Amino acid sequence: MSKAHPNAANESKPHSVTIIDNQSGKQVEFPLLQGTQGPDVIDIRRLYGETGYFTYDPGFGSTGSCESGLTYIDGDQGILSHRGYAIEELAEHSDFMEVCYLLLHGELPTQKEKASFTHSITMHSMVHEQLINFFRGFRRDAHPMAVLCGVVGALSAFYHDSLDINDPKQREIASHRLLAKMPTIAAMAYKYSVGQPFLYPKNDLKYAENFLYMTFGVPCEEYKMNPVLAKAMDKIFILHADHEQNASTSTVRLAGSSGANPFACIAAGIASLWGPAHGGANEAVLKMLAEIGHKDRIPEFVKRAKDKNDGFRLMGFGHRVYKNYDPRAAVMRKTCHEVLDTLGIRDEPLLELAMELERIALEDPYFVEKKLYPNVDFYSGIILRAMGFPTSMFTVLFALARTVGWTAQWKEMIEDPNQRIGRPRQLYTGPKPRKYVPLHKR
Ligand code: SDX
Repeated sequence: MSKAHPNAANESKPHSVTIIDNQSGKQVEFPLLQGTQGPDVIDIRRLYGETGYFTYDPGFGSTGSCESGLTYIDGDQGILSHRGYAIEELAEHSDFMEVCYLLLHGELPTQKEKASFTHSITMHSMVHEQLINFFRGFRRDAHPMAVLCGVVGALSAFYHDSLDINDPKQREIASHRLLAKMPTIAAMAYKYSVGQPFLYPKNDLKYAENFLYMTFGVPCEEYKMNPVLAKAMDKIFILHADHEQNASTSTVRLAGSSGANPFACIAAGIASLWGPAHGGANEAVLKMLAEIGHKDRIPEFVKRAKDKNDGFRLMGFGHRVYKNYDPRAAVMRKTCHEVLDTLGIRDEPLLELAMELERIALEDPYFVEKKLYPNVDFYSGIILRAMGFPTSMFTVLFALARTVGWTAQWKEMIEDPNQRIGRPRQLYTGPKPRKYVPLHKR
């Protein structure tokens, strides 16, 4: 990976910053690295060695953990792009297989490249037959995310020929296996929870179609594919594909930096995504809307969300990076109306409630001042519920779609010659050195 984009140098801009220790008067200069877009970064790799100080940034709000060319976000402008292509354009004109290829290889595929890539993914969509036994070990009412964590982590016990992370071929096979098998495993988790038989993938179906078939099809009759829902599913996958260095992606990178196998790294990412502050928010939004129940109760909940002493937050609102409308939420909102129209669902009460909540929140000074806008999770749950998914499957779908982002970020890290094991430091505020006191004297 190049240190900083060669064209980024801008003669008028300073190339370094200087830190002055006001106690000792010592001055240390640190270079500025410039990317192709977004803020420059201060290269502080020599900071501790030259000053004896660590930086302190819990939550990493001001910390760049890596160099990446996959995804760019401008939170103030509400911009999201993958390898330079705006998310709105990809959602409108591309499909999930193309976006996967783009994230993994850096360019949109030619027709030949797309056909070959899609064929490879299709050919890896079945899981090892033994894997079915893993499901039998779970209770039927296990949360599907618990099942996903367990089964994906177990993949490394089956695919010994794609564990050597230093072999590009094995990295590619592992990436394709993960991409290909996630829909199958996700559908199996759903089938297991409802006591229906697993369905094998069908090679003549597209990625999103296959997932809908394996999830909602039954052996007793032909599955009727709804092309509008299949397109909406594919679009939802695109919108969730990657999102820079979010919590779960950073988890995957940190796990991968130790040399852990890709299946274990993705299982770690699934675990991190599950949290309600992250990917679990789509499920939490539906629970919140159900709890609000009626638009007359919205002010009561908005009041609670503003109350520092009340742990309640408006789920689906706010974002560490976006201080503007999440561009994915805008596309999701439009897709929500399309899906409900297709399904003939008029005045869906949850959608009415969500739109009224959005209207009130966006006018409220607290949300305006703190720049809290709807994020990708705000509308997704309403669409997924309308499509027939139980709320417990919402984060599973997020993980399914994000697998390509996690995998592409993991691959980028492994291929970065500068990458080292991630090992942050700390500000120690524990007890000072003290002598051991024997038990009989305590
Ligand atoms: C995702 O990082 C990513 O890119 C994630 C993601 C991806 O694609 O990977 O985009 C997916 O995780 C989207 C976010 C889904 N989570 C939610 O919708 C849960 C509700 N949102 C919040 O928990 C919160 O907004 C976070 C976690 C999303 C962001 O938290 P931050 O950046 O740590 O912000 P913060 O908690 O410091 O909030 C800043 C202020 C605080 O007030 P003060 O302490 O400054 O007075 O805004 C308030 C917060 O109290 N605030 C909210 C709020 N979100 C933030 N108040 C009420 N309701 C909310 N939803």
